[in-house]
Amino acid sequence: MSDLKSQLSEAVEAAFAGLGLPAELGRVTVSDRPDLADFQSNGALAAAKRVGKNPREIAAAVAERLSGDPRLATVEIAGPGFINLKLSDAALTDRARAIAADPRLGAETVAQPRRVLVDYGGPNVAKPMHVGHLRASIIGESIKRIYRFRGDAVKGDAHFGDWGYQMGLLIGAVMDEHPAIAAAVERLNAGIEPPGAAGAAAFNTVTLADLDRLYPEAAAKGKADTDYRDRARRITAALQDRKPGYHALWQRFRDVTQVALERDFHALGVDFDLWKGESDVEDLIDPMVAELDAKGLLVDDQGARIIRVVRDGDKKELPPLLVVSSEGSAMYGTTDLATILDRKREFAPNLVIYCVDQRQADHFEIVFRAAYLAGYALEGELNHVGFGTMNGTDGKPFKTREGGVLKLNDMIEMTRAKARERLHEAGLGENLTPEDFEDIAGKVAVAALKFADLQNFRGTSYVFDLDRFTSFEGKTGPYLLYQAVRIKSVLRRAAAEGFGAEGAAAGPITVAEPAERELTLTLDAFETALAEAYDRYAPNALAEHAYRLSQAFSKFYAGCPILQAEPQVRASRLALAGATLAQLERALDLLGIAVPERM
Ligand code: ARG
Repeated sequence: MSDLKSQLSEAVEAAFAGLGLPAELGRVTVSDRPDLADFQSNGALAAAKRVGKNPREIAAAVAERLSGDPRLATVEIAGPGFINLKLSDAALTDRARAIAADPRLGAETVAQPRRVLVDYGGPNVAKPMHVGHLRASIIGESIKRIYRFRGDAVKGDAHFGDWGYQMGLLIGAVMDEHPAIAAAVERLNAGIEPPGAAGAAAFNTVTLADLDRLYPEAAAKGKADTDYRDRARRITAALQDRKPGYHALWQRFRDVTQVALERDFHALGVDFDLWKGESDVEDLIDPMVAELDAKGLLVDDQGARIIRVVRDGDKKELPPLLVVSSEGSAMYGTTDLATILDRKREFAPNLVIYCVDQRQADHFEIVFRAAYLAGYALEGELNHVGFGTMNGTDGKPFKTREGGVLKLNDMIEMTRAKARERLHEAGLGENLTPEDFEDIAGKVAVAALKFADLQNFRGTSYVFDLDRFTSFEGKTGPYLLYQAVRIKSVLRRAAAEGFGAEGAAAGPITVAEPAERELTLTLDAFETALAEAYDRYAPNALAEHAYRLSQAFSKFYAGCPILQAEPQVRASRLALAGATLAQLERALDLLGIAVPERM
């Protein structure tokens, strides 16, 4: 059963068509006067213009045709010719029952599932993360879940930045600090020691803390000192040529970083299917460059090799894709182009979604155009889904108190601490074991961070305000968790009193009261919200839906007693509450937010 909005659109479209008018004018929208109607169609106004008639007359003729429809309680003409539709209780009852019985809670799947790859997160070895990575992770995880729920075959890839100049810097810095490691690297490089032998043990003493400490120093030195920079470049080039000592040490850097990152991302409810690194496509680069050359796409430019991507009608001039630098190295964009090839071979996606900071918009436009020119993807298959920044109160991209870039772990810890405070303030979680309390504080923290981000359209920048994000009041993640947990507790109490467990044995639903009508209409709007989130890469549509749903539940809970009602009404309301919980939990899950059992 499709949602009520589509059902009514179909009915009104048929009425328009029956009058010889263009059917699409009949499309209905949610009423902007919920006190007067549930849905409305404004098509009579446009139709009147086309056929030179009075819009109210047309509206009246459409209303006449709709008059026998049992789903409609009233059809009224308002103002210059709006058609206002109010659903019958019977139609709402049917829809509420269908949603409650539907494992998908009223959401449809796409007609033609695609293969979709979401490239998001994009953390780097050693280089610290910044807010761009945080937002990429939060938004990308949600988009991945939304696409999967809609029925596409989806893979999420972290596209780990593990192959650039920063690796050469770091290898040099670690060798400077640890003579034993330096010696082992040299022995391996010279082939005196076979790979995998004793030297590797020395490498295992390198920790993530070492890398975190050494990288900023090395990066600063590399900027100030040309010799130091040149050495780092040489090491990078040798690493990319698979020099065994560098390669083995690099492997250690990559491993310790990935383990820590996976743990931190997991704490944030972000889990990648693939941790492919930039290094994974290294072998594809030489043959790719040869092929690009054979296709006549490469142009020599002062010793470098580039692909020109300008098109007629461009508003600004895009620089070319730098494929091979004058020093002979592959660049960031070269890796991205090779990754497109790799993904085509491994997964053959029809759609690749790059969830990356808006500041990289030009980079992606250039890479995509080059890929289309090379025939590595079809026009439109590659999509950059950009976003604004999370700012500090100074209006600039958020930094930690020490002025440094953000560390995921610190960010989560800081939010968790605030969440604990908030729980204590609200008198929540008091009778729980310390482990359960911690689990809840973690979920509240994740909900706070993610909902604060996802409630804005991704293009919008917003200000980091932990006090507001973690509040149990207002449009926040913690508020939504609280609402969901409250429904759980009502259902638990009902089950304890033998009134049907978790809504499953409850029902059937009968919709009668205004608050029940409103709640059902809100449940019905899930499909529209999900479709918008999917089509526009806009999880904020779902965030808005989750918020509205919990508000509609609040009104229902205040206006319609559940446990005290007489048995049939109680059973109906329990089932309605159960469906609301299931849909709210699903919507939150699609935002990457998990709901605790209690708090
Ligand atoms: N590692 C990159 C950075 O830190 C982001 C990677 C984004 N994805 C991509 N395919 N380029 O900026």
